[in-house]
Parts: sequence; C-alpha cells; structure tokens
Amino acid sequence: MSILYRSDAVRGRIWAEIFAAEAPELPFHIWPDTGDTAAVEYLIAWQPPVELLRSLSRLQVLFSIGAGVDQIGLEQVPDSVSIVRMVEPGLVSGMVEFATMAVLTLHRNVLDYHRYQRAGTWRQMEVIPAAKRRVGVMGLGVLGQAVLRALAPFGFALRGWSRTPKEVPGVTCYSGSGSLDAFLGGCDILICLLPLTDATRHILDSQLFRHLPQGASLVNVGRGGHLDQSALLDALDSGRLSAAVLDVCDPEPLPAGHPFWQHPSILLTPHIAGVTRPETAARIVLENIRRHRRGEPLRDVVDRSAGY
Ligand code: NAP
Ligand code: GLV
Repeated sequence: MSILYRSDAVRGRIWAEIFAAEAPELPFHIWPDTGDTAAVEYLIAWQPPVELLRSLSRLQVLFSIGAGVDQIGLEQVPDSVSIVRMVEPGLVSGMVEFATMAVLTLHRNVLDYHRYQRAGTWRQMEVIPAAKRRVGVMGLGVLGQAVLRALAPFGFALRGWSRTPKEVPGVTCYSGSGSLDAFLGGCDILICLLPLTDATRHILDSQLFRHLPQGASLVNVGRGGHLDQSALLDALDSGRLSAAVLDVCDPEPLPAGHPFWQHPSILLTPHIAGVTRPETAARIVLENIRRHRRGEPLRDVVDRSAGY
C-alpha cells in the first residue's frame, strides 16, 4: 500500500513531512517518484494524466488537491475509484478573505477611486450603507456558506442560490433554475462560487446579467468556464454591470493582449482566492485515509452524476 502525491513539488514536501511524522507506516511518494505503481492505493492530485490513472491498477481513492473537480475529467477515473474533493480549513479561510476583500472593494468603489487617483481627480462618490447593499452568492456549499457567514457582520442584505433547497441563518435562500431570476433581481454584488458542471458552464452570460439590477457587479471565484467573457465585456461597456473581480479565467493564464488585462472595471487575480494549505489539508486527507482503511465511509466524496 502506498500514497502518491502529484502536484506542486514544494508544497508536496510539506505533505510528505506531515505524513512521515504522523503516519510513518504509510509510504508517501512525490511524483515522479511513484514507487511501485501496483502498490499505489491513494492518489492526491490536481489534474492526474489519464496514463497515470491507467498505470495505477490498485488505485482506490483519488483525492482532488482542490475543492473543485472539473479539472480532473471524472469520466476518465475508473468507476471503482472513489473521488474525494478538498474540504479543509486553510482553503476555506483563504476564500473567505478573498471574497470579503472583493465585496468591500466593490461596495466602497475602490476600482473607481483607483482610476480617479491615476487621473489626479479628487472625487467623492456616494457612500451606500452595507444594509442597503444586496450581496448574493451562487453556490451554498462549504465555501459559499463560509463567505456568507463572514459577510454577515458588515450588515449586507444576503441571499444565496443552490441546486437543492438550503436554510442558512440570516440568508434568503433560493434553489433551482426556476428561482434563479428572482434571486438575481436582488443582487447588487453577485459572487459565483459554483462548481463547473454541464449545468453551470457559461451560466454567467448576457441573459443572467440582464436579470441583475442595473449597475450590479460580479465576483467570479468559481471557474473561468462559468463566464461568457464577451457577454461580460458587453455588460461592462454598456453600463449594465459596473465592475468585476475575476480570480478565475478560461484559459489560465489569460493570454497576453486579452481585453480583461487592461479593462478599467476589472480586477484580475491569478486563481489565488482559496488555495489548499498543505499544513491543514494533509491532516484532513490523512484522517480520511485512516477512515477508509478502517472500513468507514469516506468524507466529501464527489457525486459523479451531479459532477461535483
Ligand atoms: P460545494 O460544497 O460542493 O458546493 C457547491 C454548491 O453549488 C452547492 O450549494 C450546490 O448546490 C451548488 N450547485 C451546484 N450545481 C448547481 C446548479 N446547477 N445550480 C445551482 N446550484 C448549484 O463546493 P465548494 O467547496 O463550496 O466549492 C465551490 C467551487 O468553488 C468549486 O467547485 C470550485 O469551482 C470553486 N473554487 C475556487 C477557488 C479559487 O481559488 N478561485 C478555490 C476553491 C474552490 P447543493 O447545495 O444543492 O448541492
Ligand atoms: C481551486 O480552485 C480549488 O478548486 O480548490
């Protein structure tokens, strides 16, 4: 039995140190050192190549190094292999920090003030109280709910949208495609924290933007594939939307010369909102491996039919 890690090698060394200290009985390899491939029962990876998956004849569990699993290609993973997504406190707190920063940036017009500063213009915009700013989160999962909890103390009017009905204290909840337009109608700031699936690809399109209040703004911390890029440019240029914070793009990195790079109403970051932290994640994965070895059900297993 062994564990194979195939992702960032520098962070991999931290994973290896934690496994060596806390589970010396479990052999831990960092790719390209696979050890005996026939012994690998657990694979920890972001985007495992299909040849690697095929070479691991006794693989039992694939741990995604990220919360999202769209990058894996679920159909390439044998049915006998369980897929587990990343749910760990380090990633959650990073996402909470980033989403809070993005909402406050939009709420307090920071992109506008940055433009005015560069133009040497002293101009005060109306300060809108948080209670009059409506923030909506698409995706009421681990990350969406953590972000809503962090935003609550500011006093924003909060709402959320999910696939199945949810109850979240202090949040007006909507579910299903039939309630999407009603949800959108009360989102001055819209945050996308959905998984990328067949049902959510390009969900951030011109039709969705038309249902937002005039001048609303967008935070995309889901996946680049959620966004119809030209629809966003049209919406910003026509004033339907006022600004966007984009942590994810398609493709990544965004090519040189892409209009997002220089757009005055877009704040672009290179997919760093919620990053898996080895110090916290390794212990969560180790606990899940121990559960599996004891014959207990794994936590955070991906529902392949739902795609997340
Ligand atoms: P999660 O716990 O699985 O939650 C996903 C949420 O999305 C659930 O509430 C789910 O509804 C909802 N959803 C899924 N499909 C939907 C649909 N068709 N219509 C409406 N709602 C739908 O996932 P998570 O851990 O919060 O992560 C969410 C996503 O964030 C990841 O998949 C990834 O794409 C992204 N992410 C980005 C970064 C970054 O750095 N930018 C970092 C981590 C994650 P139900 O509650 O009904 O199941
Ligand atoms: C990062 O994008 C993740 O899915 O964890």
